Amino acid sequence: MAQTRIAVVIGSLRKDSINKKLATALAALGPQDFSFEHIRIDDLPLYNQDEEKQPAESVKRLKSEISASQGVIFVTPEYNRSIPGVLKNAIDHASRPYGQSAWAGKPAGVIGCSGGAIGTALAQQHLRNICAYLDMPTLQQPEAFIQFKEGLVDEKGNVTVEATKQFLQKWMDAYVGWVKRFAK
Ligand SMILES: Cc1cc2nc3c(=O)[nH]c(=O)nc-3n(C[C@H](O)[C@H](O)[C@H](O)COP(=O)(O)O)c2cc1C
Repeated sequence: MAQTRIAVVIGSLRKDSINKKLATALAALGPQDFSFEHIRIDDLPLYNQDEEKQPAESVKRLKSEISASQGVIFVTPEYNRSIPGVLKNAIDHASRPYGQSAWAGKPAGVIGCSGGAIGTALAQQHLRNICAYLDMPTLQQPEAFIQFKEGLVDEKGNVTVEATKQFLQKWMDAYVGWVKRFAK
């Protein structure tokens, strides 16, 4: 069965990241012919335009992984009402050099969780602006602002709250349909 590859970019480097847990749980809700690969961003240098012509190996790897995917899911925390710097750094790297962005045309899903009630809504709105500029067609609905309570995802990556599981399944089904609309 031909696999549709989805790059999953998580905006947290934290070992016990709740967004990483959410990303793992989401992947389990995807169909068999979709694969979900967590993209490494913790070894990227800080973006410096002087180095664009001699990119680090990690930057080349990031760009080739995004280029080889048929879609991208961003799973991100909210930092100070926006996206974390580590995520913006990765986005900037793979968007350059000018005219050679790896993001262009990749159907995107935006989701995230926090302990707070607004569940990353403001970070996601900022990220949607960035995706628009990067020419990434981005799933609009359903929006998913997940308030993460202790134990929401168990050690095996299963969502333990049935209503949340059903909601995330709907989100994943919508995202899969969205990716298929752009399949070449
Ligand atoms: C620098 C920093 C800024 C934060 N700002 C926000 C914020 O604006 N909104 C929010 O809901 N949580 C905020 N938080 C709390 C995060 O939601 C919380 O640390 C969460 O666990 C981060 O996600 P992670 O577990 O995937 O790393 C902030 C945390 C840090 C470290």
